[in-house]
Amino acid sequence: MAIERTLSIIKPDATARNLTGKINTFFEDAGLRIVAQKRIRLTREQAEGFYAVHKERSFFGELCDYMCSGPVVVQVLEGENAILQNREIMGATNPANADEGTIRKAFGEDVQANSVHGSDSPENAAIEINYFFSDIEIAG
Ligand code: CMP
Repeated sequence: MAIERTLSIIKPDATARNLTGKINTFFEDAGLRIVAQKRIRLTREQAEGFYAVHKERSFFGELCDYMCSGPVVVQVLEGENAILQNREIMGATNPANADEGTIRKAFGEDVQANSVHGSDSPENAAIEINYFFSDIEIAG
């Protein structure tokens, strides 16, 4: 199986509750390595650029407001099958549908304040990692 990298974001609802370390433990316990990480405050423009793929969705405006309502932790996770593995660790987008043992089941508040984001494909992982990190900021 291939070693992959995926972009993860710990969202404002989780940073507000001081959950960064607890969420990182989910990743590390599952064998993923945090090979880059920084805490930033997104501007509205940066949030809109990141979620541009959703710009026609009814929730786009609310989602962008929410993502710049507080600090986020952006990170690159590395490991075998990291993109799919991270999606399993996160659980379903809506925490109400997330399986026991997942991050969103443990910490998610609702479909918007769902604590974490993770890339959904190799193509998007490359685009999303490149959105926040340069090569010299990633140490595998
Ligand atoms: P994320 O994995 O960051 O990708 C897009 C985000 O849009 C998603 O997690 C949710 O936070 C948000 N989202 C998806 N569906 C809805 C919805 N129906 N209402 C509000 N936000 C949503």
